[in-house]
Amino acid sequence: MFDQSKVILLTGASSGIGLETAIQLVERGHRVYATMRNLDKRTALDQEADRRNVKLRVLQLDVKDQKSIEQCIKTIIASENRIDVLINNAGSGFIKPMEQATMEEIQQVMDVNFYGPIRCCKAVMPYMRKQKSGHIINISSVGGIVGSPVNEIYCAAKFALEGLSESLATYLEPYFGINISLIEPGGTITEFGNSLTRYFESTGGILDDDYKPLMETYMGYRATFTEEFKERAFQKPSDIAAVIIKCIHDPNPKVRYLTSEGSLAFTKLKTSLDPDGELMKAQVRKGILDK
Ligand SMILES: NC(=O)c1ccc[n+]([C@@H]2O[C@H](COP(=O)([O-])OP(=O)(O)OC[C@H]3O[C@@H](n4cnc5c(N)ncnc54)[C@H](OP(=O)(O)O)[C@@H]3O)[C@@H](O)[C@H]2O)c1
Repeated sequence: MFDQSKVILLTGASSGIGLETAIQLVERGHRVYATMRNLDKRTALDQEADRRNVKLRVLQLDVKDQKSIEQCIKTIIASENRIDVLINNAGSGFIKPMEQATMEEIQQVMDVNFYGPIRCCKAVMPYMRKQKSGHIINISSVGGIVGSPVNEIYCAAKFALEGLSESLATYLEPYFGINISLIEPGGTITEFGNSLTRYFESTGGILDDDYKPLMETYMGYRATFTEEFKERAFQKPSDIAAVIIKCIHDPNPKVRYLTSEGSLAFTKLKTSLDPDGELMKAQVRKGILDK
């Protein structure tokens, strides 16, 4: 049990990483507000909480809906008078070559994965500044560091989240006492992959056009992600939850946490000199703020 119970707001708790993280945080004694956009989907979380004998507070929050964010934060502040940790976990993948994606689809991907975390950050930061403490944890991806084929729109959204977080990390802590960290998982066994494949298929799948050879190759690669392969090569939500908890309990939270040897290896060409982002943060601070 962690000796200091924190008030934690977590988005996207209906499944996967969010669901498991919510439960593990309560198991470690924190006061967790597990939120989801559609409360009709709370059964899986409720059942797991019952099974593991933990008490969760569940609230509605759609990261695309400013009003729902404000209402949720108002409710938490009314009962706790503080928010110590915001975990921006809600997110969704997207596969389609940029040229074939509609502007509406591209805006949707940015809305959930980038504007959503911004909305939540902007809404909690006044309280964290008043407290002179807080920790914002943005769930990014190895796709926020390395671009990959047919995932360019999703990667662009996570790159944006990385740029935002790295920039905020240069001044939020020294000026306002707020830490900000990125968690960067690689493949993790959740609904994430199934949802993006379902969406791709529902919007026409592989089209009979110039992109067909590329898409057939790419979808052939995805077809190698059998259950047996994922069991062997992917992480589990509990692995990612453990990294998130390590980050929350870290007395000196780092800018970035790669979640496995695999994600470290995948991003190595870009991250080997500064895997946790602390050297770059110090260098930027030194050049601009430490005058
Ligand atoms: N799984 C991976 O391989 C992987 C790898 C790297 C990074 N990540 C990141 O990890 C995070 C969690 O994903 P996951 O793997 O746990 O996938 P998941 O099982 O699909 O969970 C995604 C969660 O985000 C929620 N969500 C989607 N749109 C939302 C919105 N507008 N408002 C609020 N919640 C919304 C989903 O709610 P609904 O149930 O209502 O859809 C669900 O609770 C995401 O940010 C993802 O990008 C995942």
